[in-house]
Amino acid sequence: MDYQAVLEEVAAYARPFVGRGHVADYIPALAEVSPDRFGIAVADINGEVYGTGDWQVPFSVQSISKAFSLALVMAGSHGDDDIWQRVGREPSGTPFNSLVQLEWENGIPRNPFINAGALVVTDRLLTMTGDASTSMLEFLQAESGNAELAFDQAVAGSEADHGDRNAALAHFMASFGNLENPVPSVIEHYFWQCSIEMSCRDLAVAGGFLARHGLRADGSRLLEAREAKRINAVMLTCGTYDAAGEFAYRVGLPAKSGVGGGIVAVVPGRCTLCVWSPGLDARGNSVAGMAALDQFTTLTGWSVF
Ligand code: DON
Repeated sequence: MDYQAVLEEVAAYARPFVGRGHVADYIPALAEVSPDRFGIAVADINGEVYGTGDWQVPFSVQSISKAFSLALVMAGSHGDDDIWQRVGREPSGTPFNSLVQLEWENGIPRNPFINAGALVVTDRLLTMTGDASTSMLEFLQAESGNAELAFDQAVAGSEADHGDRNAALAHFMASFGNLENPVPSVIEHYFWQCSIEMSCRDLAVAGGFLARHGLRADGSRLLEAREAKRINAVMLTCGTYDAAGEFAYRVGLPAKSGVGGGIVAVVPGRCTLCVWSPGLDARGNSVAGMAALDQFTTLTGWSVF
């Protein structure tokens, strides 16, 4: 596969979509990013990386971090499926920050990729490591090979200043006994993990273990193959929120999006991709990013379907 040629063709296809949609503005520090950015990168399972456009420009990973926190919790649980007593694995059909289902379902979030579910996963990671956000940053630095990766303090602070909805979700789950740590610690670590800045290159490389059936960049095993399969499955069904059906229809790959405009997608056994363009559709997914991934699977035939 001539990845570079495919990426150039994908970028040309996606260009008319760049700038469409709305940059997330509910976290004020994110609203300052130019909507005209577009980058895409592919890392194959041997670690070769290809990219075009703004593929080396760092952006806020936001909810993409939820795939990594789930992986770290599963890796640290050594086959114990305990986390699934506290969070489900069904699509929610509701927006990523929705509260309504939590009351009907006794404080057990539908899946680990809506905010409520991600808070439960971060809570578990905090119990396991004592410092959830730093353990994630260190893991991402190691996997991406980029020791410069850092938190964006302005984004984390801005999100904390506008974090009433996430605090409400956390308090509500705590009222059902579904948090192990104090709410302020859980939401702080969640905001910090979301604020990590990475480029398409960094994310495509760091997500390589999902394409390598659980093997890390150095060849050691992070996850059993069946665990990597499960994370990919939940990404396919829940990784793009209430647009997961549309995403499967158009792209057909496990993926995780974030309101920073990034989407990481996995072709198991072949490669991990990351695309970034900040303009979001009404459901919080990058408009140009969706178009690019749609075209990528059309050109390569590499959808799981
Ligand atoms: O919890 C929030 O609102 C953000 N830190 C992350 C949300 C997000 O990226 C949802 N994505 N589409």
